[in-house]
Amino acid sequence: MTQDQGLTVGNFHRVCIMTFMVGTVIQVSSERGFAIDLSKRNLTQVPKDLPPRTTVLDMSQNSIAELQMADLSSFPALKVLKLSHNRIQRLDLNAFKFNPDLEYLDLSHNHLRNVSCSPVVSFKHLDLSFNDFDALPICREFGNLTQLSFLGLSARKFRQSDLLPTAHLQLRYLLLDLGGYHAKETEAESLQILNTKTLHIVFHSRSLFSVHVNISVNTLGCLQLTNIRLNDDNCHVFTNFLLHLTRGPSLLNFTLNHVETTWKCLVRLFQFLWPQPVEYLNMYNLTIIESIDEEDFTYSDTSLKALKIEHITNRVFIFSQTALYTVFSEMNILMLTISDSPFFHMLCPQVPSTFTFLNFTQNVFTDSVFQNCSTLVRLETLILQKNGLQSLFKVSHMTKTMPSLETLDVSRNSLVSHTHEDMCTWAETIVALNLSSNMLTDSVFRCLPPKVKVLDLRNNRIASIPKDVARLEALQELNVAFNSLADLPACGAFSSLSVLIVDHNSVSHPSADFFQTCHHVTSLRAGDNPFQCTCELREFIRNAGQVSSGVLDGWPEAYTCDHPEGHRGTPLKDFHASPLSCNITLLIVTIGATALVSAAAVAFLCVHLDLPWYLRMVCQWTQTRRRARHVPLEELQRELRFHAFVSYSERDSAWVKSELLPHLEKEGIRICLHERNFVPGKSIVENIISCIEKSYKAIFVLSPHFVQSDWCHYELYFAHHNLFHEGSDNLILILLEPISPNSIPSKYHKLKAFMARRTYLQWPTEKSKHALFWANISAAFNTKLPCVTETDVKT
Ligand SMILES: *[C@@H]1O[C@H](CO)[C@@H](O)[C@H](O)[C@H]1NC(C)=O
Repeated sequence: MTQDQGLTVGNFHRVCIMTFMVGTVIQVSSERGFAIDLSKRNLTQVPKDLPPRTTVLDMSQNSIAELQMADLSSFPALKVLKLSHNRIQRLDLNAFKFNPDLEYLDLSHNHLRNVSCSPVVSFKHLDLSFNDFDALPICREFGNLTQLSFLGLSARKFRQSDLLPTAHLQLRYLLLDLGGYHAKETEAESLQILNTKTLHIVFHSRSLFSVHVNISVNTLGCLQLTNIRLNDDNCHVFTNFLLHLTRGPSLLNFTLNHVETTWKCLVRLFQFLWPQPVEYLNMYNLTIIESIDEEDFTYSDTSLKALKIEHITNRVFIFSQTALYTVFSEMNILMLTISDSPFFHMLCPQVPSTFTFLNFTQNVFTDSVFQNCSTLVRLETLILQKNGLQSLFKVSHMTKTMPSLETLDVSRNSLVSHTHEDMCTWAETIVALNLSSNMLTDSVFRCLPPKVKVLDLRNNRIASIPKDVARLEALQELNVAFNSLADLPACGAFSSLSVLIVDHNSVSHPSADFFQTCHHVTSLRAGDNPFQCTCELREFIRNAGQVSSGVLDGWPEAYTCDHPEGHRGTPLKDFHASPLSCNITLLIVTIGATALVSAAAVAFLCVHLDLPWYLRMVCQWTQTRRRARHVPLEELQRELRFHAFVSYSERDSAWVKSELLPHLEKEGIRICLHERNFVPGKSIVENIISCIEKSYKAIFVLSPHFVQSDWCHYELYFAHHNLFHEGSDNLILILLEPISPNSIPSKYHKLKAFMARRTYLQWPTEKSKHALFWANISAAFNTKLPCVTETDVKT
C-alpha cells in the first residue's frame, strides 16, 4: 500500500498547509481539524500515523477486518467515520469509548454478525445495513441515542419486540435491509416500528417477494421499497405486506424501485392503492413480464394525485396496445408521468379527464398522439419531450382541442416546419412553448401560438427571422441560441420582448441600433458568436458598454472577436478600431495634410539648404565610385605621368591655385599645369598636348571666363578627342560660377552638350558644403592611383 497517493481533504476555513505521511500535503483548519479520505486504498487496518485532530475519516472500500479501541483512541475529535464496504465481522461499540464526539458511523456493507453494546456515544447517523446479522442488532443502549436521526439495519428474521428499545426515538429515516430474510412459511411475523418519517426497505434482488411480516409505523410519511419481484401467484403476498404499512393517514409518498411484475399484478397493485391515502406514487425501473391482457380497473375516488413511472422495460412482445394504455389514460388523477419507456402511443380518455399535467418524456410517441382528442379539457401542461414527433403542423392541430393548455414541451423531437404552415391551429391559451432541439427552419415563425409568452427555439436550423412574420405581441422570452442567425432579430414583431437569447449563432455584425429598437429588452445573451471586429462593430460595442450592467448576459467574457485573424480571441470590450481607419473623410483629409506638409518640407530643403545640389553631388560620387571599381589597373599604367591636367581660364587662376591645387596635391594627386610643367623648346600648343597626353584625367574649371576663352575651348576639344575616347568618365567638370547656356557661343557645341548633361560638380558658395565637394573630387580619382613618380614627370 502506498500512502503518498494524496489524501483528499475537505474544505475548511482558515487553512494552512502541513506535510504528513510520506510527502503528502493536507490542509488543516485550526478550528475544525482534518478531513481525510483514505477510501479505496487496500487498507487492512486503520493507519497509525494520522493526525490526532482528525474529525472526518473516510476509509470505505478497503479491506479492514477489525476495529479496536486502540485504532481510534488517538482521534478524540473524530466526528464522522465511514467504514462501509470493508470486511469487519465484529463490532464492539466500546471501540469508540475515546471518541465522545462521534456522531456519524457508517458500517454498512461489512460482514457484521453481532454488536456488543456499551453505553454508547451520541450517534446521529448509525448505518449497520447490509451486514450478516441474524436478528436486528438492537440493544437496550440504543434507547439512549436520543439524537439518532438515521438508522440502518439488516436482519434475516424478526421478533416482534426487536425494535422496542428504540420505540421512543423520533427517527427521520430507517433503512431496513431484508436481503437475507428467510420467510417462515407458517405464521406471519410482525414488527412494530413506532416512529420514523421515512422507511426504506430493501429486499433480495433476485428472489420472488415472500416477506410475511406485518410492519406498522405510526408517523410514516414516506415509504420506499426496493427490489420487488412479483408474479400472479405472489401478488397477494405483496399487497398483504402493504396492508399495514399503507394504512397510516400520514403516508403521502410511496416509491417502488426496481419492480419486476406481471401486468395483471401491476394493475392489482394500482387497484389496491387507489383507495389508500397515498398521494404520490413513484416507480423507478419497472419491468413488465409474461403477458399483457385486458384487466378491469375501477377508478374509484382516490387520494392519489400523481403517478410517476420512469424507465419501463417491457418483456412482453405481443399484446393489445389498448389493454396497456387504457389503464393509464382513464386514470382519475391530476398528474401522470410515464418516461423512458417503449410506449409509442397514449389513448385519448373516453370521458372528460382530470389530468392537468401529462409528462411523456423519452418515449416513442408519434404525431398521431392525441389527434382530435377533445377530452383533455383540464390539461394545462403537456410534455412530449424526446419522442418521435415530426410535424409541427400536426402538433399545433393536436392542441386545438385542449382548451386549458398553457405549457407545451415538444423539445428534442424531429419536428420540421413547412412554408405552407400559415394554417397552423394552436390552442390560443398556450403561453409557453418549448420547441428546442428540433429541425425547425425560418418558416417556424409562420406557425406559432398567437399568445405565446415564452418561446424556446434553441438548437434548431433557423437562419433568419422573416420580416413579415405574424406579430407575437405577447412574446416576452425568446431563445434562439444554437441556430445560424446572422443578425440579432429586429423587435418590430415582438413588441413585448424582454429576454432574448441568441448565443452560439452566426452573428458577425450585430445591428448597432438593437438597443434602441428593442428598448424593452432587459436581458440579452448574445455571446459566443463569430463577431467580426471591424469599424461597423464599434457602435454596437459602445452601446453594449453603455447599457446598464446585467442587461448583457455574459459580457464581457463571452463576447470575443472571431475575425479578422489578427484580432481572434480579443474580447470585444478591448477592441478599439482607430477612428482614422473607420472614417473615410478623416482618412482623406489626413493623407492630404501629410502630403502638403511633406511638400512644404521638401520645398524648404530645396530653397534653404540646396537639397538638389547635395543630391546631385552624392549621386555623382556614388557613380564614380562604382565605375572606378571596374577599371583594370594596368590600363591606367601605360604612358601616364600625371593624375590630371587642369584647364582653366586665366581669370580663375586665383581659385585654382589657392583652393584646387593645394587640395588635390594634399591627397597625393599629381597635377599637370601647362605653364608650370612647361617643356622648353615646344610651342604652347605642343606643351598643352604633351600635358594632356601624359595625364590620366582632365579637370575643367568652368565659369563665364572659361566660356569666353578660346584656349580653353581648344583644350576641351583636344582633351576630348585625344585622351578621353575610352569614356567620358575621365573628364571632370567643375562649375565654378553659374553659366547661362545662352552665353555659350554656338560653335562650342561640345561644352553645351556637357552642360546639358549636367555632369559637372558645382563649387558651392557656402563654406559648409565644401567638404562634400572635395569628397566628390577625391572620389573622381579612384583609390587605385597609378604610380606616378617625380622622375617620370621630368622626362
Ligand atoms: C426546453 O426543453 C429543454 C430540454 O429539452 C430544457 O433544457 C429547456 O430548459 C426548456 N426550455 C424552457 C424555456 O423551459
